[in-house]
Amino acid sequence: MKDPLWYKNAIFYEVYVRAFFDSNGDGHGDLRGLAQKLDYLQALGIDCLWLLPIYPSPLKDDGYDIADYYSVLETYGSLEDLKFLIEEAHARDMRLITDLVLNHTSDQHPWFQAARSDRASPYRDYYVWSDTDQKYQEARIIFIDTEKSNWTWDAHAGQFYWHRFYASQPDLNFDTPAVQEEMLNVVRFWLDMGIDGFRADAVPYLFERTGTNCENLPETHAYLKRLRQFIDAHYPGRILLCEANQWPVDVRPYFGDGDEFQMGFHFPVMPRIYMALKKESKEDLVWILDRTPPIPDSCQWAIFLRNHDELTLEMVTEEERQWMWRQYAPQDRMRLNLGIRRRLAPLLDNDRRKIELANSLLFTLPGSAIIYYGDEIGMGDNIELPDRNGVRTPMQWDSGANAGFSSAPPQRLYTPVNSIAPFGPQQVNVADQRHDPGSLWNTLRRMIALRKANLVLGWGDFAWAESHSPAVAAYWRTYQREQMLILNNLSHQAQSVTLNIAADAARVFTDVFSGDAWHPSEDNELQIAMQPYQFLWLKRGEG
Ligand code: NOJ
Repeated sequence: MKDPLWYKNAIFYEVYVRAFFDSNGDGHGDLRGLAQKLDYLQALGIDCLWLLPIYPSPLKDDGYDIADYYSVLETYGSLEDLKFLIEEAHARDMRLITDLVLNHTSDQHPWFQAARSDRASPYRDYYVWSDTDQKYQEARIIFIDTEKSNWTWDAHAGQFYWHRFYASQPDLNFDTPAVQEEMLNVVRFWLDMGIDGFRADAVPYLFERTGTNCENLPETHAYLKRLRQFIDAHYPGRILLCEANQWPVDVRPYFGDGDEFQMGFHFPVMPRIYMALKKESKEDLVWILDRTPPIPDSCQWAIFLRNHDELTLEMVTEEERQWMWRQYAPQDRMRLNLGIRRRLAPLLDNDRRKIELANSLLFTLPGSAIIYYGDEIGMGDNIELPDRNGVRTPMQWDSGANAGFSSAPPQRLYTPVNSIAPFGPQQVNVADQRHDPGSLWNTLRRMIALRKANLVLGWGDFAWAESHSPAVAAYWRTYQREQMLILNNLSHQAQSVTLNIAADAARVFTDVFSGDAWHPSEDNELQIAMQPYQFLWLKRGEG
């Protein structure tokens, strides 16, 4: 547990506690249930869990609407259960981070209740009020399918209040010193419980300023730096992961000089992985990585294929968005806000080759990988469910009742198990895949083990390699004297690639999966024939 830079080469796993495992038969997953499944996650090779919000909440936004920052949602368990989970995770050398929602609370939070009912309340200034709904017009609306404005009239308060997400999530007012202090208390409370850090939600929006789009403001960075200083001073080694759905150039400041966030999601690389697969061309990946500035050595990108939200298409052009919708969300119900509410396996036609190739990109592009629960077995989605619920269905443990998720009667589950063929529990479940050496789960487990064994993939520089085939994304990862050459054939057709190899280093390239070796020719050309959707991770030197 000592390495302070452990996150540079870690595999993260995003868990929705409610969906994972129900230990007490009430139809809701819980913390004890998750604790029972830690061996499973350890077997997969997971280093760090990221828990979606676990706090008391009316669940209008699945817990991102917090009603009490100092407790655990009743159906999830108790603070004691969380402590138990943390101890059990640490005993397995796994870490655990939780969501930290700074930007807003639930409208059910006592602060908001006090604020709306009394102008003289000390909590009034915890929120952002206005007599008009005309302020901050340059701020975009995020949940465009549901919200028409970032202001909502509150009859109790006699004023409008500001919210960047659902109207049931009033924004906190970070210009109020007490709010800044409260949030440090929240951070202290959870770090004292033993968690290893936070995934900080929606950080671009903490402050509002007239004449700006109210995102990424200097005041926001100043507060986040203060938060980091506080953590470093009292809880060294705990991490902050930044959720800023922005272009890399705008995310870059969130790393500061290594004094703000240790990690930040790279949002725009994600849709481009899907573009690359569909267009059978690396060009969109090249484009975005060319526009990704370097980050301090102590920092790391977090990359992912899917998460608990819609597959966001905010960081693409309007034309690209329309194209992505046509390609990946042909039915209206598959779309939500500016995104696609589907899971990885159905998006990739449930084609093992494409799913594994996408994971090859995930594990070898610059950054640490985050796996969304269920994607390791290729779970499907249920687009009949509203909002993002269709990608949050119960984890499919086996082919038995309720997919082994819960012993409750099916009608008591928080949401139905996804039984839509070919993704129902008969076809997709953990138990079968763990048994089958050739399953997706076992393939991913091997990929994860190899990713972790090759530090160069976490630490190394990145450079494109000229493969003479636009369909093959080929790149070098280099760290000190270690080097890997990664080749991903994005095409449904075989490709033959020719790479020029600098003559000054080892002249053997070893496939880390099979142990097979390749040698460049006399004139330093490496020629490789690749099968459709094949990927190769070649280590320079003996394996
Ligand atoms: C981002 C989270 O990922 C999403 O699920 C949530 O709805 C918003 N932030 C608001 O907290």
